[in-house]
Amino acid sequence: MGILRRKPKKAGQALSVLPRHVAIIMDGNGRWAKKRSLPRSAGHSAGAETFRRIASYCRKLGIEYLTVYAFSTENWKRPKEEVDSIMNLLRRYLKEAIDSMEREQVRIKVLGDTSVLDKDLQELISRTDGLSHQIETKTQANLCINYGGRDEIIHAVREWMNAPDRQELTESELSKYMYTSGIPDPDLVIRPSGEVRISNFLLWQSAYSEFYFTDTLWPDFNERELDRALESYAKRDRRYGGVKG
Ligand code: FPP
Repeated sequence: MGILRRKPKKAGQALSVLPRHVAIIMDGNGRWAKKRSLPRSAGHSAGAETFRRIASYCRKLGIEYLTVYAFSTENWKRPKEEVDSIMNLLRRYLKEAIDSMEREQVRIKVLGDTSVLDKDLQELISRTDGLSHQIETKTQANLCINYGGRDEIIHAVREWMNAPDRQELTESELSKYMYTSGIPDPDLVIRPSGEVRISNFLLWQSAYSEFYFTDTLWPDFNERELDRALESYAKRDRRYGGVKG
């Protein structure tokens, strides 16, 4: 007698409600490496690979914005060797993006205080930015580098105070001075690795985001995992503080 099996779902199977903007805290790289007796840098390297796959999958699905937490304002506290390894991965990724953006069809934007980054990295960021403005594509990947939600709010208030054309201070007015100006708020924030906290990520923008947590470590996260998060999102009842009519 044959065993009845459910047909496996095809990755990217049409979902009734697709988020416009997915944000991810790429957590668990260190634990992934430790489990394999590898240096933490190997975990970040595997994490960068996962990011490439997921960005490409988001483009395939038609998700407009993917924002990832690549380096926080607090990550400078890590050993220099680890900080350098993450910066080198970002360098490598931006260099690749400059060569392949046309083919990959994913625009890149860096969010955060980039003024303290090494000059060559700042240059790569500005070249990537220039190219991104020329690419006609629906998908944009936002890399948060030296990004902190609180730092961003302070930065926005300072910018607003110094703006000669500033308007009365309202939520929409202050949003214009955030790093995410012009980008819709994230509909879905995903945190892998079993941690259940926001860690200073998109504090202003995630006020009404849906959250999805999974125990999977970021380097093991894949298309199927994103499908699961999207399926969960599609079932959510978003009321934005109101009631259903
Ligand atoms: C958190 O995991 C991860 C980071 C602080 C760095 C994330 C950076 C990358 C994945 C590389 C960025 C490169 C590109 C191209 C986007 P953790 O190290 O805190 O993990 P742990 O909690 O298991 O120690």
